[in-house]
Amino acid sequence: MTRILDVVGLEGGYGTVQILYGVDLHVNEAEFVTIIGPNGCGKSTFLKVLFGLATHYGGSVFHAGEEVSGWRTDRLVERGISYVPQVDNVFPSLSVYENLQMGGIKLPTNVLNSRIDRAFDMFPGISQRKNDLAASLSGGERQMLAISRALISDPTFLLLDEPTAALSPIFQQQIISGIESLRDDGISILLVEQNARLSLARSDRGYIFVSGKIVHTGDAKEMLDNPKIGEYFLGFQE
Ligand SMILES: Nc1ncnc2c1ncn2[C@@H]1O[C@H](COP(=O)(O)OP(=O)(O)O)[C@@H](O)[C@H]1O
Ligand SMILES: [Mg+2]
Repeated sequence: MTRILDVVGLEGGYGTVQILYGVDLHVNEAEFVTIIGPNGCGKSTFLKVLFGLATHYGGSVFHAGEEVSGWRTDRLVERGISYVPQVDNVFPSLSVYENLQMGGIKLPTNVLNSRIDRAFDMFPGISQRKNDLAASLSGGERQMLAISRALISDPTFLLLDEPTAALSPIFQQQIISGIESLRDDGISILLVEQNARLSLARSDRGYIFVSGKIVHTGDAKEMLDNPKIGEYFLGFQE
């Protein structure tokens, strides 16, 4: 099986502040992998290091078999990697349509328009709001817009940081179902989630981070049924 992502002994952080200590993690092609763990344990930092937005100190990152450790974000996007940040993931003062255009400013107009249409097909709710300012969207619509924007570059590998945080259960289900359908279309998914049960129920495998290290990994369904993992859930759910 081809690994879209293979991380070996990753050390990383911000400037001189080390947050990640020897992380080993992989994502197979068209696999849906979830990272869970308590607040402040380095989940967002891990995604940022992978996407060239935080400092890579050591260890290796391979994408589709090629080492990309420490690469700049624009080169990672060219390779087919995209990222939905946890916060500030839309431009509030631009319309929904303009936000999507910003996701593909280098694309020819016909390509850009067909990708925007595809995004609207995936999340019809934001299609109806296309001329409204992103600031006027609900939390759920905003996440749908952020995911749609990340898809405009036509990625084969998508990193998502807590896309269901602070949403109503209906929006949470819509977002997770949308992510699952992306995986079914062949896009590999690495998701960070606070809603551990919700995301593990739809994932192939999971990882638990604590204090910048992986403390457990396994099949997602087995993790859900594992009473020891339940102890972790209780610590940071709801
Ligand atoms: N820009 C930054 N500079 C320095 N430290 C940061 C920065 N962003 C986050 N941190 C610290 O990194 C640690 C891990 O944060 P984060 O990766 O956001 O955790 P999580 O996503 O698991 O909640 C926290 O102690 C946080 O305070
Ligand atoms: Mg985070």
